[in-house]
Amino acid sequence: MTAAPIRALPLDELRRRTSEKWREYPDDVLPLFVAETDFPLAPAVTAALERAVRTGDTGYVASRTPLAEAYAGFASRRFGWAAEPGRMRSTADVSMGIVEILRRVIRAGDRVIVNPPIYPPFFDLVQEAGGVAQSVPLRDTGSGWELDLDGIRDALADGARAVLLCNPHNPTGSVHSAASLDALARMAEQHGVVVISDEIHAPLTQPDAVFTPFLASGEAAARIGYAVTSASKAFNLAGLKCALMITASDATTAVLRSLPIEVEWRTGQFGMLAAVAAFSPQSDDWLDGLLVTLDENRRLLATLLAQHLPEARYRMPDAGYLAWVDLTDLGWGPNPAKQILRQARVALHFGPAFGAEGAGHVRFNIGTGPEILAEAVERIARARASISAAVHERAAGL
Ligand SMILES: Cc1ncc(COP(=O)(O)O)c(C=O)c1O
Repeated sequence: MTAAPIRALPLDELRRRTSEKWREYPDDVLPLFVAETDFPLAPAVTAALERAVRTGDTGYVASRTPLAEAYAGFASRRFGWAAEPGRMRSTADVSMGIVEILRRVIRAGDRVIVNPPIYPPFFDLVQEAGGVAQSVPLRDTGSGWELDLDGIRDALADGARAVLLCNPHNPTGSVHSAASLDALARMAEQHGVVVISDEIHAPLTQPDAVFTPFLASGEAAARIGYAVTSASKAFNLAGLKCALMITASDATTAVLRSLPIEVEWRTGQFGMLAAVAAFSPQSDDWLDGLLVTLDENRRLLATLLAQHLPEARYRMPDAGYLAWVDLTDLGWGPNPAKQILRQARVALHFGPAFGAEGAGHVRFNIGTGPEILAEAVERIARARASISAAVHERAAGL
């Protein structure tokens, strides 16, 4: 049986929110940029948070919580992965988990491989941990994107010390194949380096795609890998601050255990309570319903683009609610989102922020209602002439 779709909230209600998505731009801008979604919370999450507010359960997160068990259950039900609760630790968010692990496994100045186009903060997180990001771009196969294993092998042979993987990948929404993950892990192990796999979008993998947890992709991955994940993208909980760092071998678990206790103390109590509810079986139907909605939206975007902006090139994401769209053929220059914002009053994420490979691209957030998505594309189409004029004026230095 197909789950009932989860419907997005109407725009007037959304505008009462005070988060980044709703406060960065004035009210005449449709915000489809930052990775927040426009859906109501899952009922089990609302209930957990209401209970906490009612009882004033707002202190520090306890040293023993049900979070790891809840994620292990979720991973087993959704991915068929037997993750071990004893090899997990929590922290405030996925970004912090990545930085804290990197700090432990690299030395200052070490190169860390990233695969652009990539979630822009990856460049900054590597730097925050003292490393230097080394780009090995994804390979465009003509029908999708995949890891450039030859390029990664060369970078490792040349001395790179870690790989920061995004699986599923932001912004393309691609899931990496089990075979490519296993090959990556073997290569990394051969060179004595670790792989940190950001799996924050994994709960949003569509039923027609297969998400392989990196640590489950093979024995090498289990020995050298770290996964960092949270409920925050699928359940829109980013402001509550809770993420999990996960390992699968004694050596990597020892690294997690060696992190200062302060790293774990930064976990948000509300984030932990909400994540336990999100990962519980009670939220499975809600998540299935969200996937139905996101499937409708990824298809709707294809229809809207074909109808209104046929020059746009777009492949539907396998996972998540972010859509990577190539607008190069519209002739709107390296950063089309800039003039789209000014002329069409639609905020998309800037392509070049994702690395040089993002030139000419924009990233749409499709975690919204169909009316908003349609309005956004129609606004851009209506503003076509003024966008082109503004881009050409700028290029001519007028
Ligand atoms: C791939 C990826 N990693 C990490 C994050 C940020 O997660 P957090 O807020 O838990 O640091 C995002 C947010 O969109 C993301 O897309």
